[in-house]
Amino acid sequence: MADTVPAPLAGAAERDPRQALQALRAEIAKAVVGQDPAVTGLVVALLCRGHVLLEGVPGVAKTLLVRTLAAALRVGTKRVQFTPDLMPGDVTGSLVYDARTAEFSFQPGPVFTNLLLADEINRTPPKTQASLLEAMEERQVTVDGTPRPLPEPFLVAATQNPVEYEGTYPLPEAQLDRFLVKLILPLPTRDNEMQVLARHAAGFDPRDLGAAGVRAVAGPEDLDAARAEIAKLTVAPEILAYIVDLCRATRESPSLSLGVSPRGATALLNTARAWAWLAGRDYVTPDDVKALALPTLRHRLQLRPEAEMEGVTADSVLQAVLAHVPVPR
Ligand SMILES: Nc1ncnc2c1ncn2[C@@H]1O[C@H](COP(=O)(O)OP(=O)(O)OP(=O)(O)O)[C@@H](O)[C@H]1O
Ligand SMILES: [Mg+2]
Repeated sequence: MADTVPAPLAGAAERDPRQALQALRAEIAKAVVGQDPAVTGLVVALLCRGHVLLEGVPGVAKTLLVRTLAAALRVGTKRVQFTPDLMPGDVTGSLVYDARTAEFSFQPGPVFTNLLLADEINRTPPKTQASLLEAMEERQVTVDGTPRPLPEPFLVAATQNPVEYEGTYPLPEAQLDRFLVKLILPLPTRDNEMQVLARHAAGFDPRDLGAAGVRAVAGPEDLDAARAEIAKLTVAPEILAYIVDLCRATRESPSLSLGVSPRGATALLNTARAWAWLAGRDYVTPDDVKALALPTLRHRLQLRPEAEMEGVTADSVLQAVLAHVPVPR
């Protein structure tokens, strides 16, 4: 994928960042039918400077969704297919010997971009996964002792198939919380699937997003302006208490060996704030917290094997917690 950054739109400075972010959703809908929670999750992560993990069975538009987001944003973007033989240097870059100067120079890898589509991340061995996870956490790459900062904004959208699929290397549990949100793309409803087919019958080509009318409608300046507004959002003490109580309740769940950490609690505060802002409010409601609880927390807890065998899932534990913890009024 070319790493070209289109020029900013005229008058971008006076535009309302919320409108720009909402326009982004409309652009994505030109290619992707439905999958609204995943679209929301991606936009929220952009606003929070967080990375995204998208999970779903093959063929539910994980790749198409991220490719469309990239096309609708005025940022540099690259895509890496994580194959079993991919090496860490293929992601981060490496030192290359230049015979003319008789010196080694750093050849930046695809991670040096704004929006990196890390496709099928669990098909690559742990060593290569680790190099990406490190870059995500530190927002820099260190080769030969020299740290090299990654560009800003920097967001990784990684896709994976559910772990029980053959030939996959599950991401290390302890590092999953480097992703701000984990989005699960379900199979489409019958109506949505009919719409997918209708678009294809009418000539939609997923390889040609330009022909589908997808345009770059938001850029880094919109994200900066949005983040400045989100930072001003007020959060009532009762909402902070609600987030803390939800996270504490996961630590007491008999189905879990590990509940949500305080880092997870701060993540939920951030995503709920971004969601409240997107919804056009300058304060956070309990419903904002509820809306973002599953995508923000589901990958930050560990099920006990017994519970897992009984069919308990991270989402079912979180749903039970949401149903039991008193909601502030
Ligand atoms: N919700 C949808 N909206 C529009 N097109 C869809 C949708 N779901 C599936 N498709 C169609 O199915 C194709 C497959 O999607 P895509 O390649 O993005 O799947 P994926 O989830 O990345 O699968 P894999 O896990 O195999 O990589 C898309 O290019 C598109 O044509
Ligand atoms: Mg894919």
